[in-house]
Amino acid sequence: MKRIGVLTGGGDTSALNATLKGIALQAEEYGLEILGFVEGWKGVLEGRYVALKPDMIDENRGGTLIKTSRTDLRKVEGGIERAVENLKKIGVDGLIPIGGDDTLTVGAALSQEFTTAFVTKTIDNDVGRNAPEGERVDYEEIINYFCPGFPSAAARFSSFVRDLHTTAYSHERIMVVEAMGRDMGWLALSGAYGDADITIIPEHGLNYERLKDLVTRRFKEQRHLIIVVAEGLKDEEGNLITSSPDYMDAFGHAKPGGCSEVIAKRLKGDLAKQLGTSNFNHVIPSYLQRCGPPIELDRDCAIALGRKAVEALYRGKVNHVACTRRCGDRIETVLLSLDEVLELDEEGHVIPRKVDKRFYDSEEMNATPEGLEYFKPLLGPKPMPYRYPVLRIQTA
Ligand code: F6P
Repeated sequence: MKRIGVLTGGGDTSALNATLKGIALQAEEYGLEILGFVEGWKGVLEGRYVALKPDMIDENRGGTLIKTSRTDLRKVEGGIERAVENLKKIGVDGLIPIGGDDTLTVGAALSQEFTTAFVTKTIDNDVGRNAPEGERVDYEEIINYFCPGFPSAAARFSSFVRDLHTTAYSHERIMVVEAMGRDMGWLALSGAYGDADITIIPEHGLNYERLKDLVTRRFKEQRHLIIVVAEGLKDEEGNLITSSPDYMDAFGHAKPGGCSEVIAKRLKGDLAKQLGTSNFNHVIPSYLQRCGPPIELDRDCAIALGRKAVEALYRGKVNHVACTRRCGDRIETVLLSLDEVLELDEEGHVIPRKVDKRFYDSEEMNATPEGLEYFKPLLGPKPMPYRYPVLRIQTA
């Protein structure tokens, strides 16, 4: 093993450069060369790369130095073969794809013909496996406890939600806040850490009648509300609630986005009269959730995972994934085989990990205590919700 290739694919996150840094540092220690393919799988297909050195990479900066794209090599005629040919031509001995379910789907296909090691990343947090079913959640049994990039996005999102309470309170507003996360509700659930009054995740779909009841009851109690919705929410007929229903990306995913506006309008139409307010609105933080610097835990784990992936290739542990694991309230890193981490469907696509059923109460439409506990090692102890003193309003 002399020369290792690396690529970053899919949506950017805050911790990608940290993983690259770990890879470059470990490679330097072993005396290996690192080549970064530019724009993910596209760079491998087109044979475009740069030589990477640790001092080029700032682990505290978000995004990815070597850029990214959503390129499905399986959909390009002879794509996998061309990629393998290029890797061999350039003299790459092993490849480290860093990505979410789509990038790793391509990686899993390529791994049958080329030496690989993987590191996950995605603010959707959906690569890995949940703890075995049962009454108690064994957090240490979660495979790939979190995907790098997720803790930073969750920290950002939960803090938006916490901060929005002051505006919602001051204006007696019902605010619907939209979390990214595609088909999964992990990021939305982090809103519960920011004391969202209601959280709706795609794994349980939208029970609109129940939502109306909860909004009515809770608004009457506290005169303002924060409702977090996951962008991947489907309506009662199973259709994605989105403002651009016709858009598809390279992997054939419909583009989510805009469900918060649809839901806020629908609630306003149905409840404004009864609640005596027309103060319903929506907030879409969009890319603000995944840009900017990583939080410390995310950064340090991402560096360690990058190092682990290089170690895997160097020691001949091919087709392994560098994963996070919870150990008490700490996170450690571990190498697991591709099959242990990824579950593939019949077409070879990685099946995304859903929010564990035990983390969500569909009656109360919010995180359970077990769900909140999941976030503890990532976000630290949950701050107490701020309560304004009760106003004793007098009249003339
Ligand atoms: O998969 C990561 C993600 O941020 C999703 O949460 C989101 O739906 C999607 O990427 C947005 O994609 P794009 O960056 O192409 O707009």
